[in-house]
Amino acid sequence: MDIDKNLKKIRPFTAPPKQDYVNFVVPKLPLDIEIGCGVGLHPILYQGQHPERCLVALEHTKEKFDKFYRRFINHGSPENLIPVHANGISWVSQQLPNESVDQFFFLYPNPNPKPGDLNKRWYAMPFMQRVLEVLKKDGKITLATNEGFYKDEALDYFINHWKLKLVEKIHLDSSFKPRTHFEKKYLARGEACFNLVFSK
Ligand SMILES: C[S@@+](CC[C@H](N)C(=O)[O-])C[C@H]1O[C@@H](n2cnc3c(N)ncnc32)[C@H](O)[C@@H]1O
Repeated sequence: MDIDKNLKKIRPFTAPPKQDYVNFVVPKLPLDIEIGCGVGLHPILYQGQHPERCLVALEHTKEKFDKFYRRFINHGSPENLIPVHANGISWVSQQLPNESVDQFFFLYPNPNPKPGDLNKRWYAMPFMQRVLEVLKKDGKITLATNEGFYKDEALDYFINHWKLKLVEKIHLDSSFKPRTHFEKKYLARGEACFNLVFSK
């Protein structure tokens, strides 16, 4: 099957209106960005496993961010983790210079499965153009999902539209130690979870 034919055209990215953010200074450490970190299990685990890296973890839902922030404080406010309560699209667009990011994480994003909602899925958004601009030359994007259609579509868009290389495609099972609350829930139910890593 020529999957390329299924790709819908994506309009060019236009930056969202400017927000009044505290100015972000790009750290000297390798920089990772997580968009939609929920209540923040992955950011806490990840920063502990990678003290040599800096992770900015973004969550725009207030109640989830507040839980994440409490978790952050309870873990001693690690210096290499920066919790941000903001919309990831506007924060990334406004705050990050080109080629400044080593890795993006999109872990179990809402799959927006309705047929008319393709443009709400990360890989089909104009914003992905900005993600790729701020990503370093050999930077990576990690995307995890429990939805087979989302995994297939992400492979199609990232490889055929955005011209990224697939560097990892793993089917997670119940023996995998969950990194996020959604991953924990899906694996406990015996659902298939997929982890995809792409490189620029
Ligand atoms: C399905 S939840 C997954 C949460 C977490 N990654 C996990 O696996 O447990 C998706 C999260 O992404 C957040 N989100 C969606 N769009 C966002 C955006 N543009 N900026 C920041 N957060 C966003 C939602 O508020 C929600 O908490």
